[in-house]
Amino acid sequence: MTDYEAATPADPHADASRPLLEVSGVIAGYGGGDVLQGVTFSVPQGSITCIVGPNGAGKSTVLAALSGLLRPRAGSIVFGGRSLVGLSARQILGTGLVLVPQNHSLFREMTVRENVEMGAFTVRDSAVVRARLEAIEEQFPIVRERAKEKAGSLSGGQQRLVEFARSLMLDPTLVVLDEPSMGLDPKTLRQVFATVKAMNSAGRTILLVEQNARAALKLSTHGIVLESGVVRLTGTGREVLEHPEIEELYLGGAVSDRLGLRRDGLMRR
Ligand SMILES: Nc1ncnc2c1ncn2[C@@H]1O[C@H](COP(=O)(O)OP(=O)(O)OP(=O)(O)O)[C@@H](O)[C@H]1O
Ligand SMILES: [Mg+2]
Repeated sequence: MTDYEAATPADPHADASRPLLEVSGVIAGYGGGDVLQGVTFSVPQGSITCIVGPNGAGKSTVLAALSGLLRPRAGSIVFGGRSLVGLSARQILGTGLVLVPQNHSLFREMTVRENVEMGAFTVRDSAVVRARLEAIEEQFPIVRERAKEKAGSLSGGQQRLVEFARSLMLDPTLVVLDEPSMGLDPKTLRQVFATVKAMNSAGRTILLVEQNARAALKLSTHGIVLESGVVRLTGTGREVLEHPEIEELYLGGAVSDRLGLRRDGLMRR
């Protein structure tokens, strides 16, 4: 880690106390070797924190470790003061950390409302489920407007919004989004990012992974650069965006071109 982190100014959203999520020295992989080689970063309370990095860097693997889909071999993950390592995926949902995965995850043959309701599958009190659904319908009108239609009939961007809505049914403290802009046209992308911002303004802390690095870092209070299973840089969103090396190697040239972020060897060691 550089001394960059120390230069991070106080963020208007951030609580001065402990970070909401603290990941330290996490080593994890899939059996064929370690993908994460000792990953350390934190997510401030109230922030939008964005992880960027080339394909295969281990971004989704970090999120799998956080959400209990993959058990780290070493290291610690502390969320709201509680250790998550060793908890099941379901137990982790109960702590208030919800993941929206990279690949579209709605049940296509089920209706929009059924999909959203399923987000509350661990909530037993039906009055709570109803109240949350109503609040979510206010925030995401599409959930009401298209309630009875099959989720598979929605556009990619609309499905994203329904996935966000579903994730809110557990009233999470931390919403984790893996590449929410993937496959979206620029206009829909802006809508999805605006929704991310609105969820944050409504009090949720957001951790997202994005290939669309420039747009995502602009939206984010904090940025993390991951490469080859190691955190290379952290700072405010702006610091990461404006860091000379990142700018040159990551965001230079055809910035809006996602391919520009998908070249290998983007970052010098
Ligand atoms: N289920 C799995 N089993 C085995 N290896 C995996 C699995 N998922 C990912 N990997 C490997 O782990 C490494 C990191 O993958 P990961 O999906 O975390 O990268 P990423 O940064 O999210 O990439 P992308 O930007 O393409 O989504 C890759 O080498 C990948 O092949
Ligand atoms: Mg990924």
